[in-house]
Amino acid sequence: MTKPPLLVTCGLPYTNGPCHLGHLRTYVPADCYVRYMRRTGEEVVFVSGSDNHGTPIVVSAEEQGTTPRALSEKYHKHFDETFKRIGVVFDHFGMTDDPANHHRTQEIMERLVKNGYVYKQVVHQAYCPKCKRFLPDRYVEGTCPYCGKQARGDECDQGCGKHLEPGEIKDPVCKVCGTKAEFRDQEHYFFRLSAFKDYLLPYLDKLRGTSNAKNYAIGWIKEELHDWCITRTLEWGVKFPGRDDLVVYVWVDAPIGYIAFTEEWAAKNGKDWRRYWCGDNRVTHFIGGDIIYHHCIFWPGILHGAGYGEPYAVVASGMVKVDDHKFSKSRGYVVWTNEDYLDKGLPADYLRYYLLAYTSHTKELNFSWKVFGERINNEVVNIFGNFLYRTLFFAHKEFGGVPAGTVDPAILAEIEKCQKSVDDQMQAYEFKGAVDTVMALAAFGNTYIQTNAPWKLIKTDRAAAAQVIKNSIQIAKALSLLIEPVMPVKAQESWAQLGYTDKVAAHRVDEGVVIVPERQVPTPAPLFARLEEKQIAELDAVLQTRVHDADKKTEKTPMISIDDFSKVEMKTGKVLAAEAIPKSSKLLKLQVDVGGETRQVVSGIAQFYKPEELVGKDVVVLTNLAPAKIFGFESNGMILAAGDKASLLMPLNPVEPGTKIR
Ligand code: MSP
Ligand code: ZN
Repeated sequence: MTKPPLLVTCGLPYTNGPCHLGHLRTYVPADCYVRYMRRTGEEVVFVSGSDNHGTPIVVSAEEQGTTPRALSEKYHKHFDETFKRIGVVFDHFGMTDDPANHHRTQEIMERLVKNGYVYKQVVHQAYCPKCKRFLPDRYVEGTCPYCGKQARGDECDQGCGKHLEPGEIKDPVCKVCGTKAEFRDQEHYFFRLSAFKDYLLPYLDKLRGTSNAKNYAIGWIKEELHDWCITRTLEWGVKFPGRDDLVVYVWVDAPIGYIAFTEEWAAKNGKDWRRYWCGDNRVTHFIGGDIIYHHCIFWPGILHGAGYGEPYAVVASGMVKVDDHKFSKSRGYVVWTNEDYLDKGLPADYLRYYLLAYTSHTKELNFSWKVFGERINNEVVNIFGNFLYRTLFFAHKEFGGVPAGTVDPAILAEIEKCQKSVDDQMQAYEFKGAVDTVMALAAFGNTYIQTNAPWKLIKTDRAAAAQVIKNSIQIAKALSLLIEPVMPVKAQESWAQLGYTDKVAAHRVDEGVVIVPERQVPTPAPLFARLEEKQIAELDAVLQTRVHDADKKTEKTPMISIDDFSKVEMKTGKVLAAEAIPKSSKLLKLQVDVGGETRQVVSGIAQFYKPEELVGKDVVVLTNLAPAKIFGFESNGMILAAGDKASLLMPLNPVEPGTKIR
């Protein structure tokens, strides 16, 4: 029986900000996997696209004075270009706002309605009386009903991380104007996710991919499965069939994008997309650990409910942190792929290596520039690069290239063992294990060449030295072939140094046992440059400055309640007398009538007002400020003023001294 073709997808990036290292942990391992699988002879289609809908994009566009479509096009192009620069090569990279996706989403909605999995229900939806509109998802902020932390309309992003359904958030305020939101009844459509429990448990049991995806999902289903509201009152998005006033929730049309992008690819290439999505398939989703619920519960539910084949595998990465902090653009814990890395001229392959080799795919990846520098220097440069260079250098110098003869069986056995182990681990999505195994072969090569010292041997036994080099060249060939999915650019360079004129990627990964024939090689050059400490320190300084600046910006005045405010007593007052305080250039001493009581107030306004011009003026006084001695004078209150020039606050219309400010 032939296996269905492999379709690999990546979690779609939202088009409201640039590519960062967090994103890359989805894309780089997926690309590595696709490159590897292709070179085992598998037929693989690799698609993704940008995620254009949803409120964050509408809100960002509004803030930037542009349209969601224009913003999406801008970042779509950005991601497309960035992926090429980092060596992530999709067969197709579409947009969820493409007509193909509007069409597929509506078709799937219609099927779900027909199959009885969608129902109408009235919900209490947050509404802004000032903006006169409903406030879906991120248009509203408030308190999480589960943990009490500050939350967004659809997600408790600062606290427990729970998904929030429309109407669930407490104390909602409009994100645009800050007005307290009201709840109004509105009719919405719901997806009957709760009906899929009995289907999902056995499905998840046989789901391939990484164990974290499957285990989290099973755990959640055992807890509870509630229905999802799948429509929103927005202009931007895919219209719910038959309802011009509603669009589908972004998490409905985003995964359907995976199908639409396959359709777009198939149309361009004369293929049938149904082969990939209907019935038995090998759809493999690469995602980050933050969106397991959507991919392992909601998405298979939608597909099954609409009569499509469900995903074969979900490969979920651990989250990327920066300097031991949760990734956060607003707090400055972010490393931008272009600005901070590629634009500085650093090799894409170093970052790919680091992301793949740092830790096991399902574990958290804690990025730091220091560790990045160490790992590249100690592993890529010192082990891998060193072995290639000393082998080729010696081969070129003494033999002008690859010597004639055969390779020792023990060396071929070592290569074969490595290839087999890499294969087992790639098939199991153990990318780190696979990379480590390749590096172990490079370390083996180093030890081999070191102990056999061909540079000594050549003085007494040229044939023996040639054999050592022949063996080492063979190891170098295997290394180039195996490292290509990880470091495609460097692998091609080393392939050329071995005297090949074609593409390394055109060869199977297990061709390392095919003997390199006798031939000349070009003069070798070191493939990998060390990262200098100074350079790493500079890169780190950029990050530290960003965190520091963000800290300053977010040091906001805390919110207070109306009860807090009511502790402040402010009254109007009339200035009865004013005099300078001797030896002070800044202070004036005022006598102020605050309603049947005269207060002495010392105020720092001498630079802006002459004492006599203040007499008779109506002012605003903070009257319950604890008394203080200033320059030896008692001060019982504070005159309110605005700005650097201390413009005094005054009531617009005449009021009696002592009138309370509310
Ligand atoms: N648009 C959704 C995905 C829809 S898929 C139908 C989304 N977009 S995203 O831009 O936030 O993320 C894109 C990919 O990067 C996702 O696979 C996501 O899991 C991954 N990551 C984004 N930030 C991440 C980290 N800090 N760490 C690891 N991966 C994370 O989610
Ligand atoms: Zn919460």
